[in-house]
Amino acid sequence: MAENILEMRNIIKEFPGVRVLKDVNFAVQRGSIHALVGENGAGKSTLMNVLSGVYPFGTYSGDIVFEGKACQFKNIKDSEQAGIAIIHQELALIPYLSIGENLFLGHEKTSRGVIDWDLTYNEAKKLLERVGLDENPHTLVKDLNVGRQQLVEIAKALGKNAKLLIFDEPTAALTEKDSQKLLELMKDLQKNGLTSILISHKLNEITEVSDSITILRDGETIETMIKGKDEISEDRIIKGMVGREMTERFPQRNVKIGDVAFEIRNWSADSPVIEGKKFLNDISIKVHKGEVVGLAGLMGAGRTELAMSVFGHLYGKNITGKVYKDGKEIDTSTVEKAIANKIAYVTEDRKDAGLILSEDICTNITLSSLNRVSQNQIIDKDKEISYANQFRDALKIKSNNIYQPVGSLSGGNQQKVVLGKWIMTEPDVLILDEPTRGIDVGAKYEIYTIINQLAAKGKCVIMISSELPEVLGISDRIYVINNGTVTGELSKEEAKAETVMQCIVANKKLGA
Ligand SMILES: Nc1ncnc2c1ncn2[C@@H]1O[C@H](COP(=O)(O)OP(=O)(O)OP(=O)(O)O)[C@@H](O)[C@H]1O
Ligand SMILES: [Mg+2]
Repeated sequence: MAENILEMRNIIKEFPGVRVLKDVNFAVQRGSIHALVGENGAGKSTLMNVLSGVYPFGTYSGDIVFEGKACQFKNIKDSEQAGIAIIHQELALIPYLSIGENLFLGHEKTSRGVIDWDLTYNEAKKLLERVGLDENPHTLVKDLNVGRQQLVEIAKALGKNAKLLIFDEPTAALTEKDSQKLLELMKDLQKNGLTSILISHKLNEITEVSDSITILRDGETIETMIKGKDEISEDRIIKGMVGREMTERFPQRNVKIGDVAFEIRNWSADSPVIEGKKFLNDISIKVHKGEVVGLAGLMGAGRTELAMSVFGHLYGKNITGKVYKDGKEIDTSTVEKAIANKIAYVTEDRKDAGLILSEDICTNITLSSLNRVSQNQIIDKDKEISYANQFRDALKIKSNNIYQPVGSLSGGNQQKVVLGKWIMTEPDVLILDEPTRGIDVGAKYEIYTIINQLAAKGKCVIMISSELPEVLGISDRIYVINNGTVTGELSKEEAKAETVMQCIVANKKLGA
């Protein structure tokens, strides 16, 4: 049996008032891909922050042994020097610097005290080759898609001679194809002797690439499974994570679907960036009362742009088309008007557009429904608190109380706050954009249950998701969108992975 490259023993980490890690033990074999799984808020990111010196020695208790040596990292630089590199849940590249500049940020290539740009870009090229990224190192990071930025992050880690790479939910924002590429790269790096820790909520990925899997629940290690020795299945992982058997991934819905209640007709819009480029072309969509309609398509197909251009004209130029509610035309040209017409849009971009990170759960949840918690323009604090508590309980938001700043919540729990905020507006039409990104299986089920409850009350739900099984599992009807147009409409019976893919591919050929 190979030796351990890393051992974390009896790790305890507390924040004021909460013990987030309670005596965690975690060992990783040299040269393996080791998965770390657990529900939102289980402590995965915290454990990795302890390992990488984000939380310095002295702020936690327990031992870290890396490469046979006891380590007391004071900061990230320390752990990097030892050979540990973390690729964070939220990417940390500087958008307006080039790939080359980003790769060597903080450890610039210099000769005689000045930056040697020739050397920088030559070395950058080599690193990009190692991660299989065919891109000019002079390109600005802002001009790369998320998948490519992810690869730059990995190249950056390799540039620091990392021996242990930590991937914190690397594929959460990637397309299926980019995710697959990334997993392949992890396996290639493994062949070259690198060790990786992988955190992900996508259990199919976990079972595909990892040699060992450790389950964390509520800050405690539940078990470590080893491929070839233990029987590994998604069901077993889920049971370990949530602490109970989960027989179904999608709750049953028995809703009577009513008349058409929401309609977008002949919707078109031009790109706000490229003059004269149409990116939404004559889209028409209907949603019945009590119906959940899925928008399927590849990333970049135009689904988010559609939602954002309808909701307050937040995106696009020269927008044309009409929106109807209960047969009457409505005006959604500003966010205020859209909200007044009882339409809500839950953004996919929770950090930048969905939340005020420095404010607490209470403020964030009630933010879009101040009319419900105030009287004569004055906020009724008791009312605000009672609503916030109600939503925290209903959505099972893991936090000390409603006064915790949302910036300190785990990724998945931040997502639930955004969701709560919009459900509180009591919308008739709820548009959800990637609502379960980074959410664990148990919490996904809870979110689907909430969607079902809204549908049962006769609301219209539009769901955008890149996870095809999710769109198939939750929708009563599906529109496939590609290149800014509707390329297929499928009933629940017709909708299968193959038929959706056919709609996508068929259009690709037309456009080619
Ligand atoms: N600075 C902080 N102050 C208070 N509590 C915190 C702080 N940072 C994290 N926590 C709490 O620690 C717990 C663990 O968070 P962590 O981010 O490690 O979870 P996670 O397993 O990575 O979850 P996810 O899958 O959602 O990313 C959460 O309940 C979170 O609210
Ligand atoms: Mg996390």
